[in-house]
Amino acid sequence: MPARRPWWLAAYLAIAGCDDLGASAQVNDVAPSAAPSPADAGKAIFKSAGCEACHSKDGSPLVGPSMKGFWKRAQDRAIEFEGGKTLGDYLDKGEALPSAAKLTSVEDYVTLQLETPRVLVVKGFAPTAPSYEGRVNEGDLEALVAYLKTL
Ligand code: HEC
Repeated sequence: MPARRPWWLAAYLAIAGCDDLGASAQVNDVAPSAAPSPADAGKAIFKSAGCEACHSKDGSPLVGPSMKGFWKRAQDRAIEFEGGKTLGDYLDKGEALPSAAKLTSVEDYVTLQLETPRVLVVKGFAPTAPSYEGRVNEGDLEALVAYLKTL
């Protein structure tokens, strides 16, 4: 008998072939990725950008406030500034900042402290924080925030 494939077997093999391709594509999709978590990336930036020279992680104030518990303090609006205002005045009561901008989230506050740190100076600290304007992009900021949340 001549070995001739019926049309349905050819079709079956074609479909089976497609399934094989699909399966191998999936294997690639679930392969472990080497990308670090946002918090890990933030930790690396905190180091490489020199933040830790001025901000400790153990609660002791250095040139700047310790980052230990910073996120909770910010969420609790427990941060006070020179001049007597608190984070809540700007974040919840909608007071305009001296720079005429407005804060709508703790993330905004972190951005402000990184880009224009003289606008709000944390009570008890000198206005010596450097500006990182143009040196941290949105991805860096997200990573830093993810890291600060862990401290
Ligand atoms: C040369 C010292 C110095 C460096 C470097 C520095 N900061 Fe600061 N930072 C300060 C000082 C001083 C303050 C408090 C005065 C103020 O509010 O401007 C401050 C305030 C802050 C605050 C507000 C803290 C609070 O309790 O409300 C955050 C958040 C912050 N810095 C994050 C960073 C991050 C992230 C980096 C690195 C990308 C960084 N700082 C680098 C000195 C520094």
